[in-house]
Amino acid sequence: MSNTFLPREKTRQTLQNAFDFAENQVSNLVKKYPADYYPMYTVKGQFGLDQKRWTHWCDGFYPGMMFIFAEHLDDDEWLEKAIGFSTPLEERQYDRAVHDLGFLFLSTYSRWLDLGGPEERIQPVLIQAGKTMAMRFMERGQYLRSFVEPASLFIDIMMNVGTLFHAGLEAEDQHLLDIANRHCETTRRTLVRGDGSTSHEALFDLESGQCLRQSTHQGYRGDSCWSRGLAWSLYGFTRSYLQSGVGQYLETAQLNAEYYLANTPPSGITPWDYDAPESGPLAKTQVDTSAAAISASGLLDLADATSDPTKARAYRDFALNSLLSLSEQYLGDKTRGFEGILNGGVYHIHKNLGVHEAVLFGEYFFVEALQKALDFLEEEAADAVLKAYPEDSLPASARNWADGPTEEEMPAPMEK
Ligand code: GLY
Repeated sequence: MSNTFLPREKTRQTLQNAFDFAENQVSNLVKKYPADYYPMYTVKGQFGLDQKRWTHWCDGFYPGMMFIFAEHLDDDEWLEKAIGFSTPLEERQYDRAVHDLGFLFLSTYSRWLDLGGPEERIQPVLIQAGKTMAMRFMERGQYLRSFVEPASLFIDIMMNVGTLFHAGLEAEDQHLLDIANRHCETTRRTLVRGDGSTSHEALFDLESGQCLRQSTHQGYRGDSCWSRGLAWSLYGFTRSYLQSGVGQYLETAQLNAEYYLANTPPSGITPWDYDAPESGPLAKTQVDTSAAAISASGLLDLADATSDPTKARAYRDFALNSLLSLSEQYLGDKTRGFEGILNGGVYHIHKNLGVHEAVLFGEYFFVEALQKALDFLEEEAADAVLKAYPEDSLPASARNWADGPTEEEMPAPMEK
């Protein structure tokens, strides 16, 4: 076999080590903190001190990681814990105050369903979550409003519109599907720019429904490209394409990816905002590892969804390289006593909350991307063995090894 696979093997080992570390960190948190504690971001490397949480939009990510461990390790104890931390979230299916029901339920109930959980128990929750989200729809303007005010549309909502697609398809409700599609179309038109960069927020005139301007809460400026917003867009449009089959969403995600690949340093670690200044308190040197992790996970899905092999390979290689850099440079094992998985995340830079810390969305999407990458690398390695040793190049006995030796191939019985 050619030794071009050696770097891949090194990548696989590094990512496996990161995945094992992540499992260990979450296991330690479960032991250390009470059963009603949902971590959100570290303060000086410690959970339990995270105070300002606004909408509690991250509560699904903790059990979400447990579902990933349960699936990847085929581990019933993790499954039990994941369910135990998910069911207290159930009442949030009716939460009309937030736009985050996808963050909450696609990371938990949807995973539980995929792992064979009871359809009659889980599906109604997912459908209700989609219906509750649909109540945010602004007819004038054609978007799902953000939690801050009726005139506001956030790029983050692309990660939550999946609840409407799911509910629309499951409940055969065309109205929900129409709302989901109209939201995606408005987001694409008002928040995704021609070069593939994105804005955090669009503000609308409530009378005419006209989009007035781009704005931001967590980015550098209204006309800058906040890296986590770009990641939400890339991932969200990819998933919307996979759920709806609408080709324009795939094109939008690819446009986001083009910007991402052209503007992210070769390490694959994003600055917190692509248009941040070179120096000063908001300098570009402040990375956001959560944006890199979310993008890596989105790029791996986008690679699978892209038919052009050159593009698909570019997305996948970039994602694998980002995961390698995150694992080598930002894994929490580099900092003594650090309770998170990934250092270098940013929650809210302007409020100095969770800056250069572990943030739960970074943790969850990092673990998700690691799982996808490890599955891909395993398949790729198996394909490489098959290519190097095609089945028909082996003797029949080797080809049929799984069936055991034939009668003629059985060694003669030993003489007594
Ligand atoms: N609310 C989503 C974010 O902070 O990215």
